[in-house]
Amino acid sequence: MENLLPKARQIEFHPLKLAKKQELTKSTYALEFEIPKKLAIQYQFEAGQYVTLQLQIENRIVEKDFSMTSAPHEKTIALGIKINNQESFAHKLFGEIKVGDEIQVSEPRGRFTLISKPHEFRTIVGFAGGIGITPVLSHFKNILYTEPRTRLFLFYGIKNKKHIAFKKELDELVKKHAERLEIHYFYSQEKIGNGLFEGRLNEKKVALIINQLLLLDDTDEESTIWDAVDEVLICGKGEMIKSIANACYKHGIPKKNIHFELFEEFNEDIYPIEKEFPLIENISVDFKLFDKSYSTTLENNKMRLLQQLLIQKFPVPYSCKSGICGSCECVLEEGDVELLENEYLTETEEASGKILACMSVVLTKNIKVNFDLI
Ligand code: FES
Repeated sequence: MENLLPKARQIEFHPLKLAKKQELTKSTYALEFEIPKKLAIQYQFEAGQYVTLQLQIENRIVEKDFSMTSAPHEKTIALGIKINNQESFAHKLFGEIKVGDEIQVSEPRGRFTLISKPHEFRTIVGFAGGIGITPVLSHFKNILYTEPRTRLFLFYGIKNKKHIAFKKELDELVKKHAERLEIHYFYSQEKIGNGLFEGRLNEKKVALIINQLLLLDDTDEESTIWDAVDEVLICGKGEMIKSIANACYKHGIPKKNIHFELFEEFNEDIYPIEKEFPLIENISVDFKLFDKSYSTTLENNKMRLLQQLLIQKFPVPYSCKSGICGSCECVLEEGDVELLENEYLTETEEASGKILACMSVVLTKNIKVNFDLI
């Protein structure tokens, strides 16, 4: 992969030694890298972040991102990796790398993070689909370690019992923190004799979870567990995230408290545009990105700016796609947009012309934005 990032966003790589390699299920495995003392600062990370691995495949350097399963206090870079097919990066990596080998690993990054609140009594809910368990596991271990009063609920969607990655680690966590951690598994391809736990994790399932599993709150008889939810973490495929995030929002969780990490390219809007705008067609967009100038045309303004640029394959930075993380921040130099929602920019930043591409609907025939001025 061509390194397209400008200097300010350059990713730093270092060779790290593989300390552990373990097969978890038929198609998933775990890797653990040692962090040498001299690189301890560079490899400090927050729960929910990821690293990029480099591998040489047929004379090309190929890069791939993987979320960490380790929590910061474990002081190791542990990854959970799924092999989707024999041609994949994951398959080659598993076949080639041996304990003791060194591989280029980037410094950690990513915005699927939470602010730690060690003195509060919080209720945090996680939804994970398949290998999407990886950053959620990192968060759960971290919260159990750093927030002694916070309680956690995990809803983990998986094909069948044989496919549960990290089952042993999850069982141990439940055993150790039985009073504040609950885990429920949902099987999309296995009948287990209870309809609630069969089928995909989606909007309908969220309603059932709220009504049947998060109903009675022992700590407060006046309300339900769902009423007490402070933060929701979701990781999995785009369709699953879209369905669950919208269900959580409809059931009263503010968008700023719904955090998600996409595990694949997904160019649909996560939340639908609720307002109507005059239709504008053939919009000219000029933009600067990674020290290069681009010009393109958008068919119309029915979708937000970021999604349209991603569909056209421009390497625009993003993470949350919902106005929370600031990854897609840019400066509007000409034209007009409506910023649908914004949990990231301050009023002063907005007044100075900064916008979030993921939340911007274009309102003029021409616009000019700059992603490099941030
Ligand atoms: S991608 Fe997170 S604010 Fe736009």
